[in-house]
Amino acid sequence: MKRVTNIPPSNLSFRGASVLRNLLLGCAALLCIYAAAQNASYKQDPTWHAPDQASIRKNPLAENKNAAAGGAKLFHRHCAECHGPTGTGLKKAANFTMPEIQSQSDGALFWKITNGNPDRRMPSFSQLPELQRWQLVLHLRTLKPLQ
Ligand code: HEC
Repeated sequence: MKRVTNIPPSNLSFRGASVLRNLLLGCAALLCIYAAAQNASYKQDPTWHAPDQASIRKNPLAENKNAAAGGAKLFHRHCAECHGPTGTGLKKAANFTMPEIQSQSDGALFWKITNGNPDRRMPSFSQLPELQRWQLVLHLRTLKPLQ
């Protein structure tokens, strides 16, 4: 009895397509895992604290509700590339919805924005006018912690 060892060409291309599909699915899954890991890799620096004198400073724009809109614009221009458009953090940048960040005083956040943490790749924004930095703090307050 003669065995059929040749796979018909139509079958071959079908197998090729399914291998390709599995490869694509595999890559998509890997990308998802990678993206999740990137975000999960943010850990707050436990040694990074604003000095008391800086932490007690009050936001001079606290009563100025309109200033937050300007803060959102500044955020998209200067911060979103690392912290993400919604502030939940890309790469290793802080996720502003976390209670660990929302629980800090306006003055402490202002100080961190001003000085940065160069060892951990948070740049200093001391070149931005002071009121713009306070506007940014107002915007961070609109990014509520996740429930
Ligand atoms: C080049 C990337 C990058 C940019 C741009 C950037 N950040 Fe950051 N930021 C980081 C990283 C990384 C951290 C985490 C640093 C750490 O935990 O030590 C961080 C941390 C912070 C923190 C402190 C969070 C905490 O742990 O208390 C604040 C506040 C902050 N960023 C605000 C801003 C604001 C506002 C802007 C825009 C004006 C900005 N950042 C732009 C990378 C960036």
